Amino acid sequence: MLDLQNKHIVLGLTGGIACYKAAELCRALIKQGASVQVVMTESATQFITAVTMQALSNRAVYVSQWDAREPNNMAHINLSREADAILVAPASADFMAKLLHGRADDLLSLMCLARPVSEVPLILAPAMNREMWINPATQRNVVQLTQDGALVLDVGQGDQACGETGDGRMLEPEEIVQDLIAAFQPKLLAGRKVLVTAGPTYEAIDPVRGITNLSSGKMGFAIARAAHEAGAEVTVIAGPVHLSTPRGVIRVDVRSAQDMHGAVMSRVKEASVFVATAAVADWRVSHVAEQKIKKTAKGDAPDLQFTENPDILGEVAKSGRAQSGELFCVGFAAESHDLQKYAQAKREKKGVPLLVGNIGPATFGSDENALLLVDAKSVQEIPKANKLELARKLVAEIAQRMKH
Ligand code: CTP
Repeated sequence: MLDLQNKHIVLGLTGGIACYKAAELCRALIKQGASVQVVMTESATQFITAVTMQALSNRAVYVSQWDAREPNNMAHINLSREADAILVAPASADFMAKLLHGRADDLLSLMCLARPVSEVPLILAPAMNREMWINPATQRNVVQLTQDGALVLDVGQGDQACGETGDGRMLEPEEIVQDLIAAFQPKLLAGRKVLVTAGPTYEAIDPVRGITNLSSGKMGFAIARAAHEAGAEVTVIAGPVHLSTPRGVIRVDVRSAQDMHGAVMSRVKEASVFVATAAVADWRVSHVAEQKIKKTAKGDAPDLQFTENPDILGEVAKSGRAQSGELFCVGFAAESHDLQKYAQAKREKKGVPLLVGNIGPATFGSDENALLLVDAKSVQEIPKANKLELARKLVAEIAQRMKH
């Protein structure tokens, strides 16, 4: 299922050069399954035409509160009652100032004021010149609008249409879509700090060779994203993977198991959830060759000795905070067969309240997976789905099991 399936979004455009990005945003929302009703202010029509937005949204655009197409002539009521969310992108400095005072002298502001506040979230994607953005009046308005229940998204940083450089650009359409999807997720981990390990580790043999595994990091990154969507402050400690960082997630890149161990230990003290999805190498080469190992004339294979790596999850699970339940630890087991038996045994061996089993060879690199959740009392299967969907379900299971 698409992330915005069955969601009806009113996309409001106010006057600003970032209106050109609203066209792409409209397409991105529809691609995620949403239906989109565009409402524009008069100023927005100076930057992009209603014709463009109508063609992209496949619906007639509303600009005026006097629009006679609505039989009861109450477009502001009708449009706001249908909406699952009102997303104003771009939101100009002037429009935010207007909202703050509850003014309603055009259709879009009237509709924002008339929306049922507890049912229809209002999300603003500001876009303006950097001086306008940092002006105390704008910053004051952002604080007040947030207190009034609006979700004011971040601004981007970089070159602006006016030729200046700084904060104030509208976020890119894909970023806004991710933030909107997150806004619809229940805030089950609000105020929690979540630490996730993800991906493989790489254990060097010499400067050009090493030992690694097929873990892609996708499940760990999906969990990091789902935990962030659920309102947590999330850090992902990532082995070598080729994945983009989910929005709002702090990422620390590491290479070896020892690096990952160090990165986890220095951060886990503040966490209330630790999810170990990384496929950590069990052994490393005892002596990493400083120079590339060359073949010998006799054809002998190099004599490699191995040392066991620290068991990151095992060590964290033994800590006082984990034992007292202040830190909730979740382990993963990638097995090739007898999943339930091995997952139950691994849960006990690692001393964690929840262990998630999956069939390793079937999931590595794939966008889909199926999970087996094993705790002290039960075994529960989460059937095959895409990793983000599974991650959201896992996050809900974690939230439900947390004591503190
Ligand atoms: N893990 C870890 N540090 C290690 C090894 C594993 O934190 N050095 C974590 C993994 O991230 C995973 C869990 O422990 O959450 C289980 O990993 P796995 O390698 O399957 O467990 P092992 O104890 O190494 O068991 P096996 O004998 O199957 O390799």
